[in-house]
Amino acid sequence: MSGSRSAKDFFRPLAVGAPTPPTEIPARPSRAIHFFDPSNPKMAAKIPDMVGRVDVLLGNLEDAVKADNKLAAREGLVRIASETANLGGQSGPTQLWTRINSLDSPWALDDLTTLVPAIGAKLDVIMVPKVQGAEDIHYVDRLLAQLEAKAGLDRPILVHAILETARGVANVEEICGASPRMQGLSLGPADLAADRRMKTTRVGGGHPGYLVRQDPNPDQPDAHRPTYQQDLWHYTIARMVDACAMHGIYPYYGPFGDIADVTACEDQFRNAFLLGCVGTWSLHPKQIAIANQVFSPSVEDVAHARRVVAAMSALGGDGTGAVMLDGKMEDDASLKQCLVMVELAEQLAA
Ligand code: GLV
Ligand code: MG
Repeated sequence: MSGSRSAKDFFRPLAVGAPTPPTEIPARPSRAIHFFDPSNPKMAAKIPDMVGRVDVLLGNLEDAVKADNKLAAREGLVRIASETANLGGQSGPTQLWTRINSLDSPWALDDLTTLVPAIGAKLDVIMVPKVQGAEDIHYVDRLLAQLEAKAGLDRPILVHAILETARGVANVEEICGASPRMQGLSLGPADLAADRRMKTTRVGGGHPGYLVRQDPNPDQPDAHRPTYQQDLWHYTIARMVDACAMHGIYPYYGPFGDIADVTACEDQFRNAFLLGCVGTWSLHPKQIAIANQVFSPSVEDVAHARRVVAAMSALGGDGTGAVMLDGKMEDDASLKQCLVMVELAEQLAA
């Protein structure tokens, strides 16, 4: 995925309700979006050392930051962005994102009106929580357009929505297409679970009670019928991936709150990767390594994909026809899947 849009695409007045043509977001690695609390001096002190080691650093202003610390978090983010070399902006190795407070809170407007004039040139993406529909994106889009014009910014700040309400899930397609600024979507499993009245008490991940049980076997006592734990998030991730693909933006898994359970974390991330997500959140430095590994295609998969591409090219390169490779039929559809893998490997190697 390549190509970029000109700034005028972003500064044009957005006709509310008008369909937005699908756009292409310049691809930049964002396997791990590492959250930090800018009001926490211990976390803030670690930021300079993390630049270049993680694809995205995100200054969190929303949940997990106490009400009394909202101002300190906003000011801390301005300070960190201003003082940290190579963080954010178009060319740095690590993007700078923020998660602002939700639009129904008393803080979101001040977040935007403080951050854009102060550090707008370094802010790559603004994550908006609890997005309910296209109207929330239109509101942020309009405000950003004004603030960017006033600050003289020549690069648009992109917008990322968290899918964490039942209404947001119902409106996911229109959210993805609500503005050319839309960069992507993340699953917010904790708030979404509460909003849907699911019976979980965790931040993301599975639940030991969400099972299927193997059918009865007359030769075996009932007590030995195996059970298999299922993925609580499969439906929403798949729905989000389809909506993002339709609009040419990027889907992400979200938080995995059980920091100690690195195995389940890796499994959850991998399920999301296989379904089409490009990255995830990291709530602890050890989740960065897991995300970087999981959201990069394996050497074996890339090698196989290159073989398929070569074999199909040898047929003439127009995608028609089929070849047999290791006893398996490959055609244009498998070629396209393999190109996804090869392009991702090249993007990450660049
Ligand atoms: C993230 O914000 C979540 O609610 O899971
Ligand atoms: Mg949330």
